[in-house]
Amino acid sequence: MRTLIAANWKMHMTRSQAQSTARQLTEKLEGKLPENREILILPPFTSLETVAGVISGKDGFSLGAQDFYPAEEGAYTGEVAPGMLLDLGCGYALAGHSERRHVFGESDELVGEKLAYGLEKGLHMILCIGETLTERNNGVIREVLSRQLRTALDSARVRNSLGSGLSVAYEPVWAIGTGEVARPEDIREAHAMVREDLMTLLPQIGEETGILYGGSVKPDNISQILGIDNVNGVLVGGASLKPDSFSAIALG
Ligand code: PGA
Repeated sequence: MRTLIAANWKMHMTRSQAQSTARQLTEKLEGKLPENREILILPPFTSLETVAGVISGKDGFSLGAQDFYPAEEGAYTGEVAPGMLLDLGCGYALAGHSERRHVFGESDELVGEKLAYGLEKGLHMILCIGETLTERNNGVIREVLSRQLRTALDSARVRNSLGSGLSVAYEPVWAIGTGEVARPEDIREAHAMVREDLMTLLPQIGEETGILYGGSVKPDNISQILGIDNVNGVLVGGASLKPDSFSAIALG
């Protein structure tokens, strides 16, 4: 299975900073990536075209969006449609990143709508799920992950449009941007739950769907994380902003 190393730049970088960062990454990584490894860059909307210009034609690099609104076009002030992202060269998009859920209040249902719509439009969708610290302390991780997966994936719309590709990112909310990484046994356990649910919900692709880990991934923990069962890649925030640290992760 392909290993996806994704850089979620969140709300960082002007176009010139994005261009310089993407250039440095391609210089450091082109031709050096381990086999079957793909680098995905998720810049803010304003830098998509700039990054597309740098990575276009570069082997092993893809472009994606952090979010979109699930409609063709219309009166949705401030929003961006999947068709506009495809037009800029995006092949991927996230749905349900924890900041969308917890800072912007996105419900499981809206995340599910985005996931289904993005797949229908031909984007490879990365569904982000994860429990909060309170949920972890209350021992309801399994329920939370299963609910988030079921609400997004258990629909005929999803089952009928899997051609463009699906990945899941397990990101414990308490490990995002905190420097706190989940313990290997916690990651192993959560990824095994996700795999089991995927095989039940989407038997035709559940076994080969990539499951990424996200939450304070750094150059010094990447090789341990990638060695855990059912970890097929990582989603990196803070450490993806600097070419040195992200390229160390990409090669790790
Ligand atoms: P982090 O963010 O690497 O800064 O913890 C991960 C994410 O939000 O995807």
